[in-house]
Amino acid sequence: MKLAEAKHAFVTGGASGIGLGIANALAEAGLNVTIADINEEAIEQVVKTRANQFRGVKLDTRDRDNWKRAKEEAEKVFGPVDVLINNAGIAPHGKPLADTSFESFDTLMNVNLIGPANGAMTFAADMRDRGKGHIVNTSSSVGLSAFGGGVGVYSMTKFGVAAMSYALRQDLAPHGVGVSVLCPGIVATNLHANTVKIGGESNDDPSSKPKPTVTADEIGQMVISAIENDEAVIVTDKGFWQVVEYGIAPVRAACELREKA
Ligand SMILES: NC(=O)c1ccc[n+]([C@@H]2O[C@H](COP(=O)([O-])OP(=O)(O)OC[C@H]3O[C@@H](n4cnc5c(N)ncnc54)[C@H](O)[C@@H]3O)[C@@H](O)[C@H]2O)c1
Repeated sequence: MKLAEAKHAFVTGGASGIGLGIANALAEAGLNVTIADINEEAIEQVVKTRANQFRGVKLDTRDRDNWKRAKEEAEKVFGPVDVLINNAGIAPHGKPLADTSFESFDTLMNVNLIGPANGAMTFAADMRDRGKGHIVNTSSSVGLSAFGGGVGVYSMTKFGVAAMSYALRQDLAPHGVGVSVLCPGIVATNLHANTVKIGGESNDDPSSKPKPTVTADEIGQMVISAIENDEAVIVTDKGFWQVVEYGIAPVRAACELREKA
């Protein structure tokens, strides 16, 4: 959709990191932005930075009743939501599936996968009925190519977000609504601290921390361009195809085997 036609964006996890980078880019593009976040203190600080264009709403994306209230509150101020950025999420918990507690598994699933699904189910039907809108769901570079170890469960959630995005895109395209899945590389954000704050597990071992490959502000610009051009997938790093190819190599091998049979 052309952002000149859009007035209101709703950004989950908008009070920090990637969500804030996207919120700033959308505000620069002329939209009013609802910063929806679980962290009230952070919302307060961020809203001050653009008092004319930002409004805050407290939202735990896991809580379905909370979504309904947040939508109503936001739309009372800025009108119908044209752009939904389903971005709130937490870090990988650093343990292989075999060593994962049910509690930690549920927290990751609920925040990283169920949360964005709640967002889509809260806003998609309205966008479809209005024949206008765009949804961006934040997945990850490990959302298209799965790895085990400490990112295995995180990867499961982010694959789910990618699958949801493709399905939604097919459903909503005939109604003039676009959907993109955002697959960021490594970004320096407050992900570790915020994960712990909401009761999740995160391994903050500096030796296991890869170097940032892209900034939140750069991602904000990529998201603007993806909305304008209705791009299905947003990849932030060069060389990403090799990562994806590694993940789908066994599928290719299986298909080739079947062709030969
Ligand atoms: N930082 C990276 O390298 C990276 C890479 C790929 C994908 N991601 C994904 O990007 C998204 C944003 O993460 P970030 O790195 O900007 O981290 P961040 O912690 O800086 O920002 C995330 C925001 O989401 C909020 N949040 C967390 N759980 C919430 C919930 N249940 N309800 C509402 N708000 C909630 C936090 O309070 C925080 O403000 C996440 O989905 C993360 O998985 C991050």
